[in-house]
Amino acid sequence: MTLSLDQVILGDCLEKLANIPDNSIDVCFADPPFNLDKKYATYDDQKSLDDYLAWCEKWLVELVRVTKPTGSILVHNIPKWLTYYAAILNKHAHFRHWIAWDAMSTPLGKTLLPAHYGILFYSKQAKGTKFYEIRAPHKTCRECGAYLKDYGGKKDQMHPFGYLVSDVWTDIHRIRHSKRRDEEHPCQLPIHLLERLILMTTDAGDVVLDPFLGTGTTAIAAKNLGRHYIGIELDPIYEKIASDKLAKITKPTLYQDYPVSMYLGKIQSIRDCDAAKLFPKQLTSTEKKRQKAKADPQANGHHTEPLPFLDELPSAI
Ligand SMILES: C[S@@+](CC[C@H](N)C(=O)[O-])C[C@H]1O[C@@H](n2cnc3c(N)ncnc32)[C@H](O)[C@@H]1O
Repeated sequence: MTLSLDQVILGDCLEKLANIPDNSIDVCFADPPFNLDKKYATYDDQKSLDDYLAWCEKWLVELVRVTKPTGSILVHNIPKWLTYYAAILNKHAHFRHWIAWDAMSTPLGKTLLPAHYGILFYSKQAKGTKFYEIRAPHKTCRECGAYLKDYGGKKDQMHPFGYLVSDVWTDIHRIRHSKRRDEEHPCQLPIHLLERLILMTTDAGDVVLDPFLGTGTTAIAAKNLGRHYIGIELDPIYEKIASDKLAKITKPTLYQDYPVSMYLGKIQSIRDCDAAKLFPKQLTSTEKKRQKAKADPQANGHHTEPLPFLDELPSAI
């Protein structure tokens, strides 16, 4: 039996993944339980180290199996677990990036303050992976609107919309307040994080799979962007919350026909190729001068007529 698209499936991910054919999913994203004794409604988040790692290896290998040759596997976790995941994934897929998502957590005492989560980005094959560069708006001062980055004398070369994102993301905030989270879910991710990842790795109509869907973040992001989704979740309370939220989305988030990630009415992520059409690059002052000189070469002191003595030169010197 195969799984239908655009559904939240209630059940254990290993059992459900077994029904998905090889090479059939464009992108797999996983945000598994962190084994930190978080208080989920049903799942007991406290396994022995060996049990946790053996279990993680099983679903990681399954995710690689179901991913298409052009597809990617993205896994979110704390750095400690990602080091183990990378050792497993290095045997089955190809490392692309470790994305550091700057999201402050609580001081643990006698350690460096953990200030980022990681997202491992692996591709199924070494070549031919689908990938799009992403732009985010230039960072500005909240009070005066001035650019926070000093572009020095190169301001006229700035992209009119924003900068190309690197592997360090500081502009997407964690959902800190419990009133902004879904009832009973201790670690819901922000939609904008998933929208950026999905814009970066898929096209409209592609299929995104999340084996630990929680209250639906990945599926909602996929639907917002006109992608298909398959979400698996063990807990009936979270599965219902996810399905109810998904039913309320009637159309994708488009900005002048281009799928984008919007936050508070502004574009937060857009593909570079779409930004190029929506926000054509302004000419730099050097380019402007060059174009002016081309249009009126005499104003630049250049001859436009062939010099008479050129005819008198021997044809081969
Ligand atoms: C870290 S949370 C994911 C949160 C999700 N990214 C969101 O934004 O809502 C992990 C989820 O995995 C679910 N889970 C745990 N074990 C599972 C399993 N074997 N199969 C499917 N889901 C599981 C938990 O119930 C929990 O909702």
